[in-house]
Amino acid sequence: MTASEELVGKRIGKYQFMEYLGYGAMARVYKAYHTTLDRYVAIKLLHPHFASDVDFVDQFKREAKNLATLRHPNIVQVYDFDIIDNMPYMIMEFIDGPTLKNVIDETGRRHVRVSLSKSVRIIMNIGVALSYAHKRSMVHRDVKPSNVMLEKSGRVVLADFGLAKLLTGKRMTISGTVKGTPAYMSPEQGLGKSGEARSDIYSLGVIFYELATGKLPFDSDNPLAIAMKHVNETLKSPKNYVPELPDHIEAIIMKTMEKDPAKRYTTVDQLLQDLRSFTRQVKTTKLPTAKLSLIDSVATPIPDTSVDAQVSLHFVDTGQILNLERGNEYTIGRRYQNQPVIPDIDLTPFKAYEWGISRLHAKIYVGEDDVKVTDLGSSNGTWVSGEKLPPNVPRSMRHGEIFFLGKLRIQVLVYDTETT
Ligand SMILES: Nc1ncnc2c1ncn2[C@@H]1O[C@H](COP(=O)(O)OP(=O)(O)OP(=O)(O)O)[C@@H](O)[C@H]1O
Ligand SMILES: [Mg+2]
Repeated sequence: MTASEELVGKRIGKYQFMEYLGYGAMARVYKAYHTTLDRYVAIKLLHPHFASDVDFVDQFKREAKNLATLRHPNIVQVYDFDIIDNMPYMIMEFIDGPTLKNVIDETGRRHVRVSLSKSVRIIMNIGVALSYAHKRSMVHRDVKPSNVMLEKSGRVVLADFGLAKLLTGKRMTISGTVKGTPAYMSPEQGLGKSGEARSDIYSLGVIFYELATGKLPFDSDNPLAIAMKHVNETLKSPKNYVPELPDHIEAIIMKTMEKDPAKRYTTVDQLLQDLRSFTRQVKTTKLPTAKLSLIDSVATPIPDTSVDAQVSLHFVDTGQILNLERGNEYTIGRRYQNQPVIPDIDLTPFKAYEWGISRLHAKIYVGEDDVKVTDLGSSNGTWVSGEKLPPNVPRSMRHGEIFFLGKLRIQVLVYDTETT
């Protein structure tokens, strides 16, 4: 048993220590149970060498008090600070889910990237949190993937507000010993400044760059070299790695990562505004592969697609693209005389009868991670890879795969995790 695990199972004060979650530069983190309030919390326990530093503990206390005043759905709530048995600790809301660092590491291993829509959503959520805090004159100073948690519910939460300040001089400057990675640190912080709101904007830009390309903008085995690259080396456009990245997104990333703070967005709100105008644009335009010219008058219902809707049907024979929304099931078929139920995807204007499409031909389910096609007992069948699907048995579809409804070809496009 390691020293970190020794606490697990013990009860300290009101808290029953349940699980060791990990450690960072300043502290160890545990999951604990507050017995009287009947809730789980995360406890951040200062490393012993900080715990014996009186000034540091004082500052930590003050900071904890500040942090506890921040109340925002995208910021990890700090509840309390205390010292028990000479151990200073901070009690926080327990977040059930991985850190963004875990997610980036995992996607890297699988050679995929987080989808652009999901990346934008994450960046916007962190942005909203930063905007709230900046308006209260609180700067984070250590915006990085390990401080972003992705709750299972989908909530994105930023942790460790302002704590980095405590380490200034101990870790954050490149003079002296650099611990941890300065991969997300702004040039001015690399040069020893403590950081301002626009430094957080820079760090957010680095995360965006990494999500969009799967690569860090500046990397090296040597932390000092990374910091110096942020200061001196020209930033490579993310399009070098992902040529299909929308220009708008490229421009946003480049602006957040300007070396001169004066050239960056002045406020997070300006960045959010740019991102919102991008997501609105995505809602109304179709995916880049669309060849929309052939049948423009088709009355196929286009579901209201959000930025997260990255599953589309490509009607190969006509070139039309239909965006679908995750978490929905769509029936596909054609109208017939006064048939009361109209299928969700109504192919009547496609001369559905000539293609051999039944009234209720098939259904397509678009889940969070999968797309499934089910034949509904059609006359001419639903076919994948030359095989007729048995009725009412869902068939999983991969990106690019084609299914036939009778003779009509439909290709499934999934833009969720793009291959790097
Ligand atoms: N509120 C929380 N709820 C659940 N898990 C948490 C919480 N805060 C931190 N953790 C877990 O504890 C780990 C260590 O967190 P900590 O903040 O000490 O380190 P870090 O962010 O990785 O590094 P650094 O100290 O350099 O910021 C995190 O990676 C995360 O897995
Ligand atoms: Mg942290």
